[in-house]
Amino acid sequence: MTQQRKILVTSALPYANGNIHLGHMVEHIQTDIWVRFQKSRGHECYYVCADDTHGTPVMLAAQKQGVTPEEMIAKVRESHLADFTGFGIGYDNYYSTHSPENEALSRSIYLALKANGKIESRTIEQLFDPEKKLFLPDRFVKGECPKCHAQDQYGDNCEVCGTTYSPTELINPYSAISGATPVLKESEHFFFKLGECADYLKQWTSGSTTLADGRQQPHLQPEALNKMNEWLQGDQLSDWDISRDAPYFGFEIPDAPGKYFYVWLDAPIGYMASFKNLCERINIDFDSWFKPDSQTEMYHFIGKDILYFHALFWPATLKYANLRAPTSVFAHGFLTVDGQKMSKSRGTFITASSYLQQGMNPEWLRYYFAAKLNSKIEDLDLNLTDFIARVNSDLVGKYVNIAARAAGFISKRFDGKLTDVTASQLLPQLQAKSESIATSYEEREYARALRDIMALADIVNEYVDANKPWELAKQEGQEAYLQQVCSELINAFRILTIYLAPVLPELAKAAAAFLNVPTLNWDESTKLLPAGHGINPYKHLMQRVEQKQVDELVMANKENIQAATTADDAAKYEPVAATASFDDFMKIDMRVAEVLSCEKVEGSSKLLKFQVDLGFEQRTIFSGIAASYPEPEKLVGRMVIVVANFAPRKMAKFGVSEGMITSAAGEGKLFLLDVDSGAQPGMKVG
Ligand code: 2FM
Ligand code: ZN
Repeated sequence: MTQQRKILVTSALPYANGNIHLGHMVEHIQTDIWVRFQKSRGHECYYVCADDTHGTPVMLAAQKQGVTPEEMIAKVRESHLADFTGFGIGYDNYYSTHSPENEALSRSIYLALKANGKIESRTIEQLFDPEKKLFLPDRFVKGECPKCHAQDQYGDNCEVCGTTYSPTELINPYSAISGATPVLKESEHFFFKLGECADYLKQWTSGSTTLADGRQQPHLQPEALNKMNEWLQGDQLSDWDISRDAPYFGFEIPDAPGKYFYVWLDAPIGYMASFKNLCERINIDFDSWFKPDSQTEMYHFIGKDILYFHALFWPATLKYANLRAPTSVFAHGFLTVDGQKMSKSRGTFITASSYLQQGMNPEWLRYYFAAKLNSKIEDLDLNLTDFIARVNSDLVGKYVNIAARAAGFISKRFDGKLTDVTASQLLPQLQAKSESIATSYEEREYARALRDIMALADIVNEYVDANKPWELAKQEGQEAYLQQVCSELINAFRILTIYLAPVLPELAKAAAAFLNVPTLNWDESTKLLPAGHGINPYKHLMQRVEQKQVDELVMANKENIQAATTADDAAKYEPVAATASFDDFMKIDMRVAEVLSCEKVEGSSKLLKFQVDLGFEQRTIFSGIAASYPEPEKLVGRMVIVVANFAPRKMAKFGVSEGMITSAAGEGKLFLLDVDSGAQPGMKVG
């Protein structure tokens, strides 16, 4: 065996307010394969993860559900872990960032940064929701894009024209939580002086670590380094705001009541906290893994969107807290499905739980992702047609078939016993590839590893076709030869299983039981099963994927639309709401109304104040359509459709609204509904 290494590996911590989907699975499968490979090589390797539990979105999601954040995150963590476990992800610890270990580590790291002169406090102005009494994160402020004037854009960038800006630049901003117009408010914030870390970061990002086995391991992939250089050039690195004001779900900053660590400060520390929790349970010396001169290795698998945090903030945080830096950050691209961004309306925003609930084999997906993964930061496409073809042809057709074709003869004709295969010409060809396939795994070139493994499976299948065991079985005097051929095939299957085991752990387990061997570690690929070794009866190891299953999966995710919690969908059309009965419909009393007057509302950029005639009475109605109707006086005299039986609603300081004016919404605009000429105020709509 090569020299034993000590390796700590992480996947990015999923947020505790969203479902696990196949995008997450790309990363966790990629990491899990690497970890299983390292363990199979005999290294001391630990894989930790956790839920990322802090921040405003989590706090608001819990409020919406009417539970405490603690209750919500405990439930979500369980469901996340069940999803990941369902896909065979073998963490050594899956923890939570809301843990005592994380609180203690976050505080001590912060205090070390402070002692090293890297923390500074400054008063800044930020948008504040006067109704909710909450400083608004960028994503919670919406308004008109200052560039292209699209409505309802987020506070950090415009989804229509792609411009990035600060929330204070939005025209007619409003709080996405309450609808109120935000006000600028001052507050003291703590900053990590990242600008002062530029020299260290230039050195770290372009550097590498010499591993215990002598290899040079670059800290970043070449594409990631280019990206970081763009950011580091010209000393443009801004200091990093690491505090947030109450109310905030997180850890309070020492000696700063009402100030909390920003979620991105304690999230990566959550990697350490999860590991610390593991160390305490299994008695490992945690400190020796994090001292600055530690000889242990630490790798973070992440998506390309969070490189900035992992390649700049995190190494600088560790360095100036007197701790070791990561050995490498490994970034991957995004998942597309059938060449497009995952979409809820198309049913391609596939949740991990829906895949498992359909009874689909998670190892199909592990194999497919692995067959497409490499060490570059490239997007990965799940092509559903190719998925079916690839799994069926490679795994079922080429690999599993080898065992299926040989096992029956060994069991029935030779009492399950193998014969001596030391003179085989076939097996050395498989064994010879052990180190080069290992190198492919080590370098995260899984696609290359699987191509090489399948090329070996092709050689084995050619051997089957050349020797035709089913014909040998019918010929007299060919007993010994039949046993020889089938024993070679069983040995070949065993070697291929060792090579595939990091990708297909469950299949490998079932194969080990069939082969009657206790382990399938990498070193064993260079060995052979001895003459007389008995195997167990063969049970089919893997079913084919059926088109129907994939169709049903897509359908299930279309139906999932209402249950989905993340809104990352560029789909143009709102999904159709849940089925309503005629009686449901009739509960809403809609009437034709004539606009008597319409004016802007002082102090609100969103609202227009209508006076409408419903025939039987007149009413005042406030409607949030100001942005779409900049000249409200022009609406006087036209007909609108009003929901007449909503309870009157108090509109902050503006007055009471006695109904709702209906409109169609889309592409950032609202469009009032009209009615054909002849309709009179008060007529019922239905
Ligand atoms: O982007 C995300 O999903 C974050 N929750 C990842 C955090 S990774 C780490 F730094 F904790
Ligand atoms: Zn724009």
